[in-house]
This record gives sequence, C-alpha cells and structure tokens, in this order.
Amino acid sequence: MTDKTFTFQYHVLDTIDELPEEDRLLLDEAYLSAEQSYSPYSGYHVGAALRLKDGKVIHGSNQENVAYPDGLCAERVAAFYASANFPDTSFDTIAIIAFSDDFEVDTPVAPCGSCRQALSEYEYKFDEPIRVIMKGKSGNIIVVDSVRSLLPFTFNESKLKKK
Ligand code: THU
Repeated sequence: MTDKTFTFQYHVLDTIDELPEEDRLLLDEAYLSAEQSYSPYSGYHVGAALRLKDGKVIHGSNQENVAYPDGLCAERVAAFYASANFPDTSFDTIAIIAFSDDFEVDTPVAPCGSCRQALSEYEYKFDEPIRVIMKGKSGNIIVVDSVRSLLPFTFNESKLKKK
C-alpha cells in the first residue's frame, strides 16, 4: 500500500479590498446575479458571475422548481449559458456569492459537487485553469486558482477515450 496526500493552496482574504479591481467588479456582478435568483423554496439566493477570457461577463443565479431536483445552481446556469452562446471562449474566473433573509450567510459559498464537475469539464476542454472566488453576504473571501483543486480524481474526458 502507498499512502498519498493531496494538498492545494487557496487564498483567504479578509476584505474585498485585497482583491484586484477586476475581481471586485466581478463580485459586484455576482451580487447583481444573486438579486435575480429564483429561489422561493430555499430562500437562499446565489449569484455567479463568470468572466470569460475575452472579458465578457456571464451572469447566473440559482433557478429553483417546485419539483425540487429540477432546479439548477447559479454556477451551472452561468457555465452552461456561456458554453451554449460562446463555445469557443474559455473561462477565466467565476465569482460566487450568496445572501438570504432566512439564514446567516457569513462564510463563503462553495460550489456543490455537481457544479465542480461541470466547471471542471470546461477546464479540461480549454486546458486552462478557472479561478473561483467565493464569498458570503459577510465574512472573508476564499480564492482558489483552479477548479481541479476542489475536485481531486475528476471524472474527465480521458476516461472516455476510444481505443
Ligand atoms: N446553490 C447554488 O446555486 N450554488 C451553490 O454553490 C450551492 C447551492 C443553490 C441550490 C438551491 O437553489 C439553493 O442554493 C439551496 O441549496
């Protein structure tokens, strides 16, 4: 047996002032997205702003449904819109933020497992890391340099290579 360890670096920022201006603006855009969230069931409003390599910003917010599993997270709404409309443009950075009147959102919102898998698809597609900026309504900010850090042992295209 061989024991191995997976580690990754991430950045914790006390305030948004520690971010470069373009990332601060992206968080502002994510907040605007969260305000468009359709989340009558959870009351948890999530917004994503995805900056593409050409600087275009794509908005996504969680879209819920009375048939609960039919809803979709903010991150995938943004990623799928971007890929559907700008299929040749790689992703640079996604900023995610959440707020709620019902819950305290004082820690960064981290993408769920399905969103990590979906985002990682586009990292493999373009072979370029996607930065992830996570923030709650209040509290500190976490930045990771690649979705791959959040999803070790990804199921990726190499698994479906034809012989
Ligand atoms: N949600 C997101 O949109 N993104 C996340 O990263 C976590 C969860 C949504 C799904 C659902 O509409 C609500 O938040 C509560 O889980």
